Amino acid sequence: MCGIVGYVGKKDSLQILFDGLTRLEYRGYDSSGIAFKNGAGIEIYKTSGKLKDLQKILPTPLPAITIGIGHTRWATHGAPSAANAHPHTVKGVSVVHNGIIENYRELRTDLVAAGHVFTSQTDTEVVPQLIARYLDRGLPIDEAIRRAIAHLRGVYALGIIHEGTPDTLFAVRNNSPLVIGIGTDAQYIASDVAALLPYTKNFIHLEDRHMAVLRSNGVDLKHVESLETLQLEGKIVTVDWTPAMAEKQGYDHFMLKEIHEQPQGVMDTLREWTDDTNRLMDEMGFAGTIKDLRRLHITACGSSYHAGLVGRYMIEKFVRIPVTVDIASEFRDMCPIIPKGTVLITITQSGETADTLAAQREAKKKGARTLTICNVVGSTTTREADSVLYTRAGLEIGVVSTKAFTAQLAALSLLGIALGIRKGKLSDLEIQTLKPFLLDLPRLIQQALQTDGKVKEIAKTLVGAKSIMYVGRGINYPIALEGALKMKELAYIHADAYPAGEMKHGPIALIEDGVPVVFLATIDGLHEKILSSIEEVKARGGRIIVVTDSPAAFRDKADDMIVVPSTHPALVPFVTVVPLQLLAYHVAVIKGCNVDQPRNLSKSITIDDKCHNAVCSYSGYCRKSISCAIITPDEKKGIANRVVRLMHVSMWEQFSASSMLESSGRELQKAVHHEQASNGFCTCFESPYE
Ligand code: BG6
Repeated sequence: MCGIVGYVGKKDSLQILFDGLTRLEYRGYDSSGIAFKNGAGIEIYKTSGKLKDLQKILPTPLPAITIGIGHTRWATHGAPSAANAHPHTVKGVSVVHNGIIENYRELRTDLVAAGHVFTSQTDTEVVPQLIARYLDRGLPIDEAIRRAIAHLRGVYALGIIHEGTPDTLFAVRNNSPLVIGIGTDAQYIASDVAALLPYTKNFIHLEDRHMAVLRSNGVDLKHVESLETLQLEGKIVTVDWTPAMAEKQGYDHFMLKEIHEQPQGVMDTLREWTDDTNRLMDEMGFAGTIKDLRRLHITACGSSYHAGLVGRYMIEKFVRIPVTVDIASEFRDMCPIIPKGTVLITITQSGETADTLAAQREAKKKGARTLTICNVVGSTTTREADSVLYTRAGLEIGVVSTKAFTAQLAALSLLGIALGIRKGKLSDLEIQTLKPFLLDLPRLIQQALQTDGKVKEIAKTLVGAKSIMYVGRGINYPIALEGALKMKELAYIHADAYPAGEMKHGPIALIEDGVPVVFLATIDGLHEKILSSIEEVKARGGRIIVVTDSPAAFRDKADDMIVVPSTHPALVPFVTVVPLQLLAYHVAVIKGCNVDQPRNLSKSITIDDKCHNAVCSYSGYCRKSISCAIITPDEKKGIANRVVRLMHVSMWEQFSASSMLESSGRELQKAVHHEQASNGFCTCFESPYE
C-alpha cells in the first residue's frame, strides 16, 4: 500500500508535500518521490529508500511551489529503485498511483508496439503513457485522462499534473482510498486524512470511478466515464482529529503512544452509547432486523479478526444467538451460506482492507444486512455497509493495531449489550451489574499499563527466544492469538497460540527446557483447567509466564507473573491484551526492530491477492480461468458444468464438477483445460496433462 499526496494553491513551500508524505510513510516506505511545477516545466526528485533519502536530494532551501504531487512506495511491480519510484512522468504528464493496474502488461505491449519507450518496470507507467498518447492526438487533458482510464483494469488512486494545464491537479479513484482536502486558497489530495490534518479538517472521500479537478480556488467532481459534473453538496465531512494525533507526543514510537491512548479510545467509543444503548439500535437501523435476526456472521482480517473472536463470546453470552466468525479472505471465496435474517458484521480499523470489503460486498450480494465496525469516518466499508458503528480510537499510525483493537472490543461489547436488551436476553440486574464494569474499563486499562516495568524485565529474557507459545481459555483464547500475532508482527519471533485444553492434543510436544509459554489465567470458572495445563508444561521444562488477576493462585507455579486488574469475566480481554502488546513492543525494541514500520507489513492491505500465476496473459484477475483468484464459486460452477456437458462424462463426475473441480477426476481437469484452450480462455499454467 503506497501513500500519495498532492497540493495546488497560491504559493507554499515544497515542505507541504514532504510533510504530507512523512505522515503517510507508515503506508509504504521502500522508495519515494516528488514532482512539482517550477514555471518552466515539471521538476522531479525520486529515490529508493526512506523519505530521509529523498530529503537528501531535494533542493535546499525547499522552493516555493503552486502545484505538486508526492508518493511513498510499497513495491508491487518493479523492485524498489529510483527508476521505479513515483511520480512517473511522460511528455509533461506526471502521475502518482496507489493500487495495481492489473492489465498493465497488455497495455504496455500495445504501447511499446506503438513506439512508446518505458523507463520503469512498474504497472503505473502505463497511465502517463496513455494520457500522453491522447494528448498527442490533440485531446484536452480531462478527455485524455478519461480515455486513458477507460483502458485500465484494477485498483487505483491517482494524482496527476500536466505541464500544459496551469493551476490544475487531477485525482481519480477506483477501489483505492483517496481523500480531497478542502482549503480556502489551496486544495489537497492524500491517501488518508492524516497527511492533511495541519492544513484542513474538511474532506471529501472520493468515490469509485470519480475524478476530482482541483484548482487553488476550489474543487470540481466529475464522473470519470462521462465527465459529467457531480454535486459537491453533502460530500464534505469534517474530521475532529488534531494534527497532534499524527505526532509522537514524546513517545519513542507511534505504537507505544497508541498503546497508552487505549483508555481514551475505549472511553470515547463507550461514552457515545453507554447511557442509551437503545438509541444505539435505532441509530444503526437495527430495530427492523432484530425481530428476524437469526444469526450473526463476523468477518475481518488480522487483529480485527481476533477482536471478532472476542466479540463472539460477548454476543453469544449476552444475546444467546449463534455467531460465526470467519477470516475475510476465506469468507469471500467459500461461497458463504447466508440464510434469511443474517447480519454480517465487518470489523476493520481502516475501512479499506480489500478482503474485508470484498466479504462485505459478497454477503450483501447474497442478501445479508451489513454492519461495519470501523475507525475511519467515511472510509469505503462505512459508505457501503447498511449501518456503521464507529470506534473512536482516533488516528492509528502504528502499522500493528493496538488502540483500534481495544476500541473494537468496546464497540462489540456495546453491540452485544444493546442486542441482549432488545432481545430481552439481558435482565435489568445483569445490565446494572455490567454497566459499572464497562464504565470502569478506561481506569482498569490504565492500571494494566502499569505492568510496563515488569513486562520490560520479562522482555529482556525473551529476546533470544526461537519461539514463544501463548495459551488461553474461553474469552482469553483470542487474546492469546493476538499476543502471538504481535510477537510475530513486531519482533519477528515465531509464536503460536492454543486453547489450554488443546495443548495435550499435540502442541505440548514442542515443550522442552526453557520454552517460554505465556498463560492468560484470569480467575473465572475455567482457571482450574489452566492450572493443570500449566503443570503439564512445567513438568516438561517449559518456562511459565502467567498473566493473571489473582497472583496467589499461581505464585508457586509461575516463573514470571504479570498481574492485571480484575473485572467482569466478559470484559477481561480489555486488560489481558495490554501486557501482551507491551511484551511484543519491548522485545522488538530491544532487538532493534522497527516497531512502527515492521518489515513486509502495511497498515491495511487495499489491494487484492495477486492472481495465481504470473505467466497468465491476464495477470491479475482474468475471471476466465477456473483458478483465477477472484472468480466467484458460481462462475467456477458455470465453467465446470459447461465442460461436463461438452465432454459427456459420468453423472458422478458431472455432480463432482459442480463441487468446483476439487474432484480428483484427472479426465475432468483435462477436459476443463481443453475447454478453456478451445474457447480461447487463457490457460493460466502449462497443463500438466499434455
Ligand atoms: C494488516 C495490519 O495489514 O491489516 C493489521 O498490519 C490489521 O494490523 C489488518 O489488523 C486488518 O486491517 P483493518 O484495517 O481491516 O482492521
